[in-house]
Amino acid sequence: MNIISIVTTPYSDQKPGTSGLRKKVTVFQQPHYLENFVQSIFNVVPELKNHLLILGGDGRFYNARALQTILKIAAANGIKRVMVGEQGLLSTPAVSCLIRKYHAAGGIILSASHNPGGVNGDFGIKFNSANGGPAPTSLTNKIYDISKNIKTYQIAETGDISLDTQQSSYLGDMRVDVINSVNDYANLMQQLFDFSTIKTLFTSRAFSMCFDAMHAVTGPYAKEIFENRLSANIDAVINGVPLEDFGGTHPDPNLAHTSELIARLNTGINAAEFGAASDGDGDRNMILGRNFFVNPSDSLAIMTANAHLLPGYSQGLRGAARSLPTSRAVDKVSEEIGIDCYETPTGWKYFGNLLDDKRITLCGEESFGSGSDHIREKDGIWAVLFWLNLIAIKQQSVEEITRSHWKRYGRHYYTRHDYEAINSDTAETLVQNLRNQTSSLIGNQYGNYKVLLCDDFSYTDPVDNSLTEKLGIRVIFEDESRIIFRLSGTGTEGSTLRIYIEKYVRDPALHERATQTVLAELITIANTIADIENHFGRSHPDAIT
Ligand code: G1P
Ligand code: ZN
Repeated sequence: MNIISIVTTPYSDQKPGTSGLRKKVTVFQQPHYLENFVQSIFNVVPELKNHLLILGGDGRFYNARALQTILKIAAANGIKRVMVGEQGLLSTPAVSCLIRKYHAAGGIILSASHNPGGVNGDFGIKFNSANGGPAPTSLTNKIYDISKNIKTYQIAETGDISLDTQQSSYLGDMRVDVINSVNDYANLMQQLFDFSTIKTLFTSRAFSMCFDAMHAVTGPYAKEIFENRLSANIDAVINGVPLEDFGGTHPDPNLAHTSELIARLNTGINAAEFGAASDGDGDRNMILGRNFFVNPSDSLAIMTANAHLLPGYSQGLRGAARSLPTSRAVDKVSEEIGIDCYETPTGWKYFGNLLDDKRITLCGEESFGSGSDHIREKDGIWAVLFWLNLIAIKQQSVEEITRSHWKRYGRHYYTRHDYEAINSDTAETLVQNLRNQTSSLIGNQYGNYKVLLCDDFSYTDPVDNSLTEKLGIRVIFEDESRIIFRLSGTGTEGSTLRIYIEKYVRDPALHERATQTVLAELITIANTIADIENHFGRSHPDAIT
């Protein structure tokens, strides 16, 4: 096998965001664009040499081409062995599971998560470290620095390797194992949850579920786990075949993109009792009951309150963590059961140290993400199994479980308003204006709400003491209500402003109200404080979650 060194010119825009390097497919198709970034990873992580690398993606357009390029660059850079999923498919949680199980030096995931795919869609690449989690900012900054000055990359001159079936072969000295994408992950799930109790739920009465794989990576995982191992109803998985363009749909598990799933739950005499969906790469989850939506922040709190009932967590929890904009529902539970609860910046990578240092067992984000110390990524199918196991033990519906949780701990009404694809300078100005006002807002009275605290959130990692700043403007009111403003770090077009609004209501008699109504006054206050209308010429968001 011939290894050649290719002379290249650096790109200036290869700075990874909240979760890896994400760009339009057309950006990745520029000459040497992918190669430069991959070589930068190998330059920064010399441990990969002579070690094992896990490789896979969510099946979106450009995966197939990128996998072959990465394999050839890996062979040229002295990687000893690569395990790659059959058809190139591996969900993000499965990559994390495999890195840990086989003691790999790292993994490369090809995905743009919940962003649309296809020729005109998005593509992404993310490096995960030996702990199975997303590379920390210190590492992604180094990769970015190298990419800005890269002059050459090494690549093997060889034909493509077939990824169609499980087999082992060699690219020069590098062994390539094409493995079953699902088995190791499914076996891990079987250790954490009580599969026999869940199976009984499906077989002993007419309980049925519907899982929307959204034409993305979780289809094969869901079929093996729900249909084969748990004997769920035969039509439990919809949109279960991964497609390069996700069937032209948006693989984002929220109410706006799952009409088929919602119909299966809410109509007909055979309507499913339990519904769920995951995203492009399988790390997100949405949980639904019949005519009932579980807010992801509530889901994290409910998991924290009930984890001790499940086999994998019967020893109790070490602690919990949530990202800054996630509601404080989990804080209430943590306080009551006497565990620490950490508030971290947005992005799963910030949970890694807390998990590795055994400070927490569960963690989650408002953006349909939850997970535990079983891997170092959030995990969509894991969350679905968690809920199924709870339903099977409690013999209660999703709605009953959620309502009784609110009754006990109080309810956090919660919404997120997104202003998408806005001019980046306008967005920066808005955030800078907010930053300038933080101290002067304290003590201000807006209608029924008085500002108790206002700052630009910064985070000192309690494990390695690293400081991260400018993470979002927090406005906290005297009654525990909060408004958070921050700019998205995953978009590929202009900027997105996210406004997160939350209000805590203790009294169960007031838990039946509509979220947007309860939060209406706070929404107006948020718009006033940020002067939305003046900056954007409108005060209605593009998306409300
Ligand atoms: C979004 C979510 C964040 C999540 C990330 C990756 O990032 O808000 O919670 O970790 O996607 O899935 P954002 O676009 O807000 O930076
Ligand atoms: Zn994702």
